[in-house]
Amino acid sequence: MIKVAILGGTGFGAGELLRLLIQHPKVKVVGVVSRQEGKISDYHPHLKCFFDEDLLPAIPSQAELVFSALPHGTSKEALPDDKRCIDLSSDLRFDGFYSLPEFQKRDLRKERVVSNPGCLASATILAFAPIVGSAKKISVIGSTGSSGAGKGLNEATHHPVRHANMSPYKVFTHQHEEEIRSVLAFKNLDFVAVRAPMSRGILVTGFAELSHKVTESTYYDYYKDSPFIRIVETAEVENVVGSNFCDISIKIRDNTLFVAAALDNLIKGMAGTAIQNMNLMFGFPEIMGLWMPSVRPV
Ligand SMILES: NC(=O)c1ccc[n+]([C@@H]2O[C@H](COP(=O)([O-])OP(=O)(O)OC[C@H]3O[C@@H](n4cnc5c(N)ncnc54)[C@H](OP(=O)(O)O)[C@@H]3O)[C@@H](O)[C@H]2O)c1
Repeated sequence: MIKVAILGGTGFGAGELLRLLIQHPKVKVVGVVSRQEGKISDYHPHLKCFFDEDLLPAIPSQAELVFSALPHGTSKEALPDDKRCIDLSSDLRFDGFYSLPEFQKRDLRKERVVSNPGCLASATILAFAPIVGSAKKISVIGSTGSSGAGKGLNEATHHPVRHANMSPYKVFTHQHEEEIRSVLAFKNLDFVAVRAPMSRGILVTGFAELSHKVTESTYYDYYKDSPFIRIVETAEVENVVGSNFCDISIKIRDNTLFVAAALDNLIKGMAGTAIQNMNLMFGFPEIMGLWMPSVRPV
């Protein structure tokens, strides 16, 4: 059993890590660290009977692995020097050991600190990774649920504004655009994020102008050893929410490729990939604790 602590204890990421880790046979959660006081289940009522221990003010010494689900700008400094860490924030994305397992396929067994990818970046990278070497230009719209902004309230996530509305935001300035370009090593890519009227889930849709022939087999071959990628007829949010799957569908007309990729921002876009990275760091099977379908209907 590995002993795990979680920072940012009352947030969405921490709650989702805890919910998923209940099913992990090799993990014991020894501390949920927070600035708040009280029981874990006071803040995550769905976890009552599973995590009723008190929140802790600091990382317990017996922890071997620390997940940081803190906001960016606060996470890097909170990571301990003497333990293995997985950072869910963007603090280390450009200078840490970045791992989106299906793309880099890295051996993580000797890494001490791993940087987990962004949610919209994950969906976009997974959508275009198989064909990036055959593309002249890529254009992407990433539609996201409101939980992508975390549990804090703001105008854009407020229910009356969000529940029946859609709008683009941070056009050409979204922080994930640079992450996508950098990880894919492909500069000719435009990305726009859209607020969608749902709580969780991402649907990335986009076009690639192709320079070389691509078929559906290109995707099947690329992802043949990636258990959490499903090539489907039509990628839909409802088929992945609550699971660690990313569903991808493609259509090709002449030199134009259309791709759609759906994932749960809180799982394959965050806590699920973090647990996948943990499995790879500790030499466990990649799917351990994560092999479950979505809830449907949501
Ligand atoms: N939401 C997503 O879909 C998503 C996807 C991928 C990556 N991420 C990244 O993952 C991280 C966690 O996201 P989240 O959605 O779980 O956010 P969240 O719901 O806002 O939770 C973050 C938690 O961090 C703690 N915190 C907040 N401000 C802090 C501060 N100034 N100093 C120290 N602690 C503070 C709070 O917990 P306490 O009050 O208990 O201390 C808060 O509940 C973020 O860096 C985010 O960018 C999020």
